[in-house]
Amino acid sequence: MTKIVILTGAGISAESGLATFRDSGGLWSGHDLNEVATPQGFAADPALVHAFYNTRRRNAAEAIPNAAHAALARLQAALPDDVLIVTQNVDDLHERAGARTVWHMHGQLTHARCAACDHVWDAPMQMAADDPCPSCAAPATRPDIVWFGEFPRHMEEIWDALRQADLFVAIGTSGSVYPAAAFVQEAARAGADTLELNLEPSQTARDFAETRLGPASAVVPAWVAEILGD
Ligand code: APR
Repeated sequence: MTKIVILTGAGISAESGLATFRDSGGLWSGHDLNEVATPQGFAADPALVHAFYNTRRRNAAEAIPNAAHAALARLQAALPDDVLIVTQNVDDLHERAGARTVWHMHGQLTHARCAACDHVWDAPMQMAADDPCPSCAAPATRPDIVWFGEFPRHMEEIWDALRQADLFVAIGTSGSVYPAAAFVQEAARAGADTLELNLEPSQTARDFAETRLGPASAVVPAWVAEILGD
């Protein structure tokens, strides 16, 4: 059976009302990523960082999965052992659309982590740095997000999956952040076919065998229907 590895980025959640990072009006046009998405920024001003993620956590909780999230959940349900969803997104819209296997390489807004003992628990909607860790009681609570300069999650399993893939599909990502931006080359090197579904060509568009442009809520369901032979 065709093994499909799918990488999603902020663009798949844009039509659910969640801001992307690099589009006009995106998160990085309104915030300095060094202040809110680095360990140094958290050390300098944990309250500012928690405020940034508290707002994103509330926005994500209020957002509704769109047709693209639903289509990927449908595909994974139809081909349960052959569809892996790797996401750079920290929202839970894939899961709320019904996806079962989702690897969040940049962490999750719904999780909190202790900076002292690494314990992870379900995040309250509003977090503060001096919230005590449920495990070690240290007042060292941080969002369970992978910041710039920290190691993305699941990387060994992701590289293995890319090397075994028959098809790699990137959806709603600008291809501007590594290691995710290198996935297409790794998959192609291993002989996989490659497809990009995006609103506009990404920075790595030339590495894809095929690019289909349009809003995710239109191009993703159309692609899934094609795969499932609707
Ligand atoms: N449908 C499809 N694609 C869309 C849509 C849409 N409705 N709206 C925007 N896009 C595309 C944009 O054209 C762009 O290529 O989604 C992409 C969003 O790019 P970014 O804002 O850079 O988001 P992303 O690629 O996920 O960023 C990667 O950067 O800052 C870090 O950790 C952060 O995970 C994030 C990583």
